[in-house]
Amino acid sequence: MIFKNSKLFAIELDQNDPLKSYRDQFYYPKGENGEEVLYLCGNSLGLQSKSVRPLVETELNVWAKDGVLGQHRRWEKFHEKLMANSARLVGANPSEVVVMNALTVNINLLLISFYQPTKNRHKIMIEKGAFPSDQYAVESHLDLHGFDPKDSLIELTPRTGETTLRTEDIIDTINDLGEELATIIMGGVNYYTGQAFDMETITKAGKSVGAFVGFDLAHAAGNIHLNLHEWNVDFAAWCTYKYLCAGPGAPSGIFVNKKHHHWTGPRLAGWWGQNKQTRFDMGPDFDPIQTVEGWQISNAPVLGMAPLLASMKIYDDVGMIAICDKSQKMTGYMEFLLKENLPEINIITPNDPNQRGCQLSLVIPGGKAIFESISQKGIVCDWREPNVIRVAPHPLYNQYSEVYNFVQIILHTILG
Ligand SMILES: Cc1ncc(COP(=O)(O)O)c(C=O)c1O
Repeated sequence: MIFKNSKLFAIELDQNDPLKSYRDQFYYPKGENGEEVLYLCGNSLGLQSKSVRPLVETELNVWAKDGVLGQHRRWEKFHEKLMANSARLVGANPSEVVVMNALTVNINLLLISFYQPTKNRHKIMIEKGAFPSDQYAVESHLDLHGFDPKDSLIELTPRTGETTLRTEDIIDTINDLGEELATIIMGGVNYYTGQAFDMETITKAGKSVGAFVGFDLAHAAGNIHLNLHEWNVDFAAWCTYKYLCAGPGAPSGIFVNKKHHHWTGPRLAGWWGQNKQTRFDMGPDFDPIQTVEGWQISNAPVLGMAPLLASMKIYDDVGMIAICDKSQKMTGYMEFLLKENLPEINIITPNDPNQRGCQLSLVIPGGKAIFESISQKGIVCDWREPNVIRVAPHPLYNQYSEVYNFVQIILHTILG
């Protein structure tokens, strides 16, 4: 698409936007002066859709009216309402996806199963600069098994002078590690650079050397096209409070490939993973459900899950094709405007649309001072140490004219 550096052009794009009606389905935050802020922080906390409150109220009403009877009538199966729709979102079968716990908890639970080191095969591969929680989790598993990160943690680093990873280098590392590689766990989209990794190719290489392959999809779910089952990924987990707009601390989704559903390896067990026919017999023997549900531990946090029903309905209505289409256009437009107006800004996110979602990570002269100044002017985005401003226009509620305004505000702030 040929972009133009003009407000009128941005307004025209908004008028022709097939998703324009969705913005009204969300509450848009206001600043202290009562005016709408410019919210570009969908990569951190997605906005609340207007259908969330009635869905939560429904569960509150059931609780008020029925007390514990709601448990057997309704909540025992509540998580099942989120299996098929979440599976569609990540390209999986309904039996491969369940929502439970929080993201880092799930990464830890999945690593209990999918990191099974031996004397010769004990290495875990991750991208350097992965989200710290993932790094802590991975190192804690090495520690649990008595391995030293210095020997067993392989961190992928960009080439000198580059900020993102090349797929060929990732694949070479996997092949070099060969039978020493136990597990790959990488972000689907790196939280800092916004780089989307080629998960299909990485999985293929990882499987060819006999490793388990998993992804932290916190910045990928609802942001980029995913096809986990077809790609033969072993496991994955994501949060639902970012692009998926399910609210602060909302529970996490996990994926476990069907081929592992008759699992006899290690896992941490709990009664919600127990065969549903016998769960309430309260017997001592664990007989796991032969789907991803076998990895559940506790009963579902219904009030935390209800908002996700709202977003899953919207995502189902819109579909990832339309989401990705707008995302590429909107982020491409931001990139174009930044390059036209502010060539001194270094966009460290890849410019190939297949290697990113909607986030751009900007290294700006003036760094944090500029970030603080634009925040005072009503822009909500975020700063990540040591030197990046992350901006992520969300296809469901952001507009091209906001992208235009954002660049103008940055421009005027830098020029003083
Ligand atoms: C990539 C990534 N992984 C893990 C986490 C941690 O999530 P939680 O606090 O839900 O465990 C985050 C949080 O923002 C994240 O961005």
